[in-house]
This record gives sequence, structure tokens and C-alpha cells, in this order.
Amino acid sequence: MKQQLLNRIADKSAVIGIVGLGYVGLPLMLRFAEVGYKVLGFDIDQSKVDALTAGKSYIEHISADSIATALERGFEATTDFSRAPEADTLILCVPTPLNKYREPDLSFVLDTMDSLVPYLREGHLVSLESTTYPGTTDEELLPRMESRGFKVGENAFLVFSPEREDPGNPNFTTRTIPKVCGGYSPACQEIGVALYSAVIDKVVPVSSTRAAEMTKLLENIHRAVNIGLVNEMKIVADKMGIDIHEVIRAAATKPFGFVPYYPGPGLGGHCIPIDPFYLTWKAREYGVNTRFIELAGEVNSAMPDYVVAKVAAALNIRKKAINGSRVLVLGIAYKKNVDDMRESPSVFLMEKLRDLGAEVSYSDPHVPVFPKMREHHFALSSVALDAATIASYDCVLLATDHDKFDYAALKEHAQLIVDSRGKYLEPADHIVKA
Ligand SMILES: NC(=O)c1ccc[n+]([C@@H]2O[C@H](COP(=O)([O-])OP(=O)(O)OC[C@H]3O[C@@H](n4cnc5c(N)ncnc54)[C@H](O)[C@@H]3O)[C@@H](O)[C@H]2O)c1
Repeated sequence: MKQQLLNRIADKSAVIGIVGLGYVGLPLMLRFAEVGYKVLGFDIDQSKVDALTAGKSYIEHISADSIATALERGFEATTDFSRAPEADTLILCVPTPLNKYREPDLSFVLDTMDSLVPYLREGHLVSLESTTYPGTTDEELLPRMESRGFKVGENAFLVFSPEREDPGNPNFTTRTIPKVCGGYSPACQEIGVALYSAVIDKVVPVSSTRAAEMTKLLENIHRAVNIGLVNEMKIVADKMGIDIHEVIRAAATKPFGFVPYYPGPGLGGHCIPIDPFYLTWKAREYGVNTRFIELAGEVNSAMPDYVVAKVAAALNIRKKAINGSRVLVLGIAYKKNVDDMRESPSVFLMEKLRDLGAEVSYSDPHVPVFPKMREHHFALSSVALDAATIASYDCVLLATDHDKFDYAALKEHAQLIVDSRGKYLEPADHIVKA
């Protein structure tokens, strides 16, 4: 069984099933299709399946042309899970958010697996890519596979291989980002490594699914904690009249032992604000408090309030209140040069300012209309920026520093800029760092 699957991977006759065609699943599909595999994509969202089938993309940095090329190479998208037996691999790329108590919400992973279980067949490789706590693969997916009578490691296979992506960074592609893979057994690992090695330059095997799960969490916790540290340093530096960005630039000239992290208006995206708390939750089972994670979370989640206080103070100097002021938030995606709004701190800033009575608008070249979000609502469209428009706001708040903004024009025409990204290096009377 193992050899058969290895042969099918080697001669590219294996059909690659990918479940969840979002920010992670879609680029992975493109890469397998590019290399010459037939890919069968599953999603519960009919509109996504329809868009892909029509050769359209719903992610800004993925072109419609690339989808059309994949279709020509045999890619199909479907909502019909009964087609799972046609695939040799089932690679799960579904969301792993937090619930309202900030605890792991595994419902997407479990629902996906429960939908697939009736269609599992001998020889299937299941690979979980969604970020999650150590133990998920063995404790949740393994029993579900075994419930169908499979002997995992003998006639069906199971691995965890975390996705790594840096959306908007043109220096890395799915192919060039090394991929970690841990199997439930040595045979599982061998197949997982063979599968990913077919499309990715460097695969990094680890000894277990738990080690692979923990690797992903360490990477993201490392970021969350260091961003928390630098956000705290920002507050101290500001009180001391020191520009933290100048300090970071200087420290980053040290050729060893220092990695620059940058302060901002708060954490955003689907990973860094969320993933650390998967470990916090699981660690409690072992009687461990993850204090660094909690502390970083506390510092980082206080950042939107810090920025709003800076807006209030800057307006106050101009004898204005937030209440009644016209505030333009620049950039509402969670990071520069992308259109992804998940967990964006800009949205928290907009809500806080609105609650305090500001007349809030936004401008974001990547987000023309404020999207429907589960917990946030603004009936707004992106404001086009010209000299008169910029000058008409009491305050322009730079929240996400997209390259497409004309920073010189903003500096020239804005009455007041509150810069939460350290974009403006030179001090000016009407620019306040936050
Ligand atoms: N986006 C990134 O850059 C990134 C990077 C590393 C890790 N991750 C992790 O990868 C996972 C997926 O993230 P994403 O950004 O691709 O999410 P996403 O929301 O963009 O995509 C998930 C897709 O899964 C589909 N889906 C939901 N439930 C389903 C089900 N039961 N069956 C089939 N499809 C279902 C959704 O319709 C959606 O198309 C998460 O765990 C995330 O933390 C994301």
C-alpha cells in the first residue's frame, strides 16, 4: 500500500485532494497543478467553487490567469465530498480560529474530517496543514480514521505539515518556503515527505505530528512575543522622547544576535493574534501557564487604545476633541500591500474612534469597499485621495503602510498625521508618532 502510493506520487499519477481553498489551499493547489498533478479541490463554499470553475480568483495576489492555467491542467473544484475517493491525498487547509472565550475552535477541522470519514479509502494520505495545538492530529484525526477500521501507517496514512506563508512578500513562493512534516508513524512520514518534496524545494522531516504542530506554534509565538516586546519598548521610548524606529534601525545593523521587529497599532491577521492561544489552552492540560504568551497578548491588544490616546492628545493640542472630528484611517488591511482584513487592528481603531464620536472614513487601495465581517460593520467605501480631500480631515491616522499611498502628498496636505508605523522619519509639527 505504501509503495503503491509512493509510486503514484513519483510518477505524478497521484490525484491531489485539497480541502479548503482559501489563502493556504489555493496557492498549494496552483503549485501541485504547476508540477503536473491533477488536483481535486474541495470547499463547502459554493461561491468559491463557482468562481474557480469559471477561472476567477477571489484573492488579490492570485491571478485569474493562474487559475485558468490550473483548470487547463485538470484542476477541478467541488463541494461534493463523495468524490474524495478519487483523490490519493486529502490535504486539509481549513480555518482554526478562536471562539469568543479565546479558546481553540476546531469545529472547521472536525467538521471537515467528519464529512470525509465516510469516503476514506485504503491508501489515502490525510495531511493536516491548519495551525493547531500539539496533539490535534493524533487525538482528533487518528481516531476518526481508525473508526473506519483503517490501520494508520499500514493501509492509510496521516501527517501534520504546517503551512508557512508571508502574504504580500514577493521574495518567497510556495515552492521556496521550506516545509516541515511529521507523520503519525515512520511510514506516514515517508509518504508525507515524498508528497511535499515533489513540489517544495526543501522538506524538513520531524519525528512526530506533535513536533510539527509545536514547530508552527513556536514560529508564531516567537513573533507575537517579540512584537509585544517592541511595542512595550515603543511606549518607554516615546515617554523618553526617543524615536523607537530610529533605535530599531540602529540595532538592526548588529550582524548577529538581533532580529528586528516593528511596533504597530496592534496584531492582525489570522495567525499571530490567534495561534499562541492554541498553546496556552493546551498547556493548561499539563498544568503550565504560558506567561510570555499571555503578557505579549496583553501588551499587543492594548495597542489600539494607545494609538487612539495619541490621536486624542494630538487633536487636543489643536483645541479639538475626537468627538466631532473627521478622522481618515489609512490602510484597513491587517498588513501592508495585501487585501486581507482578518483581525485587522485598523477595524478596532475605527470602532473606537467612532464610539468616541469621530466621523470616521478610510482609504485603502486594496480594499475598495468595507467588507462584510462577522463582528464589525461599516457602510463605507475607500476614499480617493487628492489634496483637497486629504486637507479636509482633522486627522489622518496611518494604520497600515501600503506602498501605494502617496506619503509625500499626505505629508504636504494633511492637517495632522498620526503615524503608527514609523513611516515618517523626519520630525514635523503636524506628524505624531503613535
Ligand atoms: N493565510 C495564511 O497566510 C496562513 C499561513 C499559515 C497558516 N495558516 C493556517 O492555515 C489554515 C487555513 O487558513 P486560510 O488562511 O487558508 O483560511 P481561509 O479562510 O482563507 O480558507 C479556508 C477555506 O476552508 C473552507 N472551509 C471551511 N470549512 C470547510 C469544510 N468543513 N470543508 C471544506 N472546506 C471548508 C472555507 O470555505 C475557505 O475557503 C488556518 O489554520 C490558518 O491558521 C494560514
